[in-house]
Amino acid sequence: MRRVRKAVLPVAGLGTRFLPATKAMPKEMLTVVDRPVIQHAVQEALDSGIEQLIFVTGRGKTAIEDHFDHAFELESTLQSRGKLDALQTVEATNFPPGTIAYVRQQEPLGLGHAVWCARHVIGDEPFAVMLPDDVILGGPPCLSQLLDVYKGLDQSDGASANLIGVEAIELALSRKFGVLDVGQWDSEQRSFSAKGIVEKPEPEDAPSNMAVFGRYILDPSVLTYLDRQERGAGDEIQLTDAIDASIKHGVPTYGRLCEGRRFDCGSKQGFVLANVAYALQDSEISGRLKPAIRALLDDD
Ligand code: G1P
Repeated sequence: MRRVRKAVLPVAGLGTRFLPATKAMPKEMLTVVDRPVIQHAVQEALDSGIEQLIFVTGRGKTAIEDHFDHAFELESTLQSRGKLDALQTVEATNFPPGTIAYVRQQEPLGLGHAVWCARHVIGDEPFAVMLPDDVILGGPPCLSQLLDVYKGLDQSDGASANLIGVEAIELALSRKFGVLDVGQWDSEQRSFSAKGIVEKPEPEDAPSNMAVFGRYILDPSVLTYLDRQERGAGDEIQLTDAIDASIKHGVPTYGRLCEGRRFDCGSKQGFVLANVAYALQDSEISGRLKPAIRALLDDD
């Protein structure tokens, strides 16, 4: 398999579920404890060996670009005041020039459209897609788990494949996810082959309970199906439909159950839970937080 160097992070969504918090601030900049949601995915990508991040962005998202840039005044103030720990924390969000590329999605036409907007930067090589709403706590970086399995797939020249992070869901929730039509199970790799994939099916139509969450490694041929700009579920251009087309055209596709707990930071409940879970792992605050949370629950 060819090396996966690039990750596409769609960040153009309006974040309407978090209004009014997201009126003047991108939802990706809401914080899970002390860092914005987007930084969790970026760190996961870099820890997994990704070299270039492609943000598919939109109007009102410049705070994301500023976050991953030098903050000259802040840095020099911290330096002159000797606040070196804080300086280090800030400097960790600066990357070498060219590490992040920004592409605009001018219209909100769906996840498939967002990925398609990045096609010229992706080029003709396998790439990752990371949906930053999904924050994963515990285990090795989630994307690196997928990349390890991906490296073990067919090594012959030019071989192509798609590999998708999945989790088992209650069938009643199938309307919120892409769902895989599951083939053969490989218990050693915690993965299975996919015979198809369908976006947001009704529970009675769901081909399995294996749902796509926000981590994918895709063969670039998927972009040719996105070129068709066909609308699917919700009248949007769906990445799921392009992956399904690539499966039907013979690209081997697999789902993998990953270690770690996923939090959907695109929902209020998931976002609050992610904050609690991360805070409980933070040695600086967890000691006093635990009894305080217990007391809150007891009062409830
Ligand atoms: C998107 C994908 C869906 C996937 C989900 C995971 O849907 O289209 O296939 O299961 O992310 O979070 P969205 O949540 O953007 O509607």
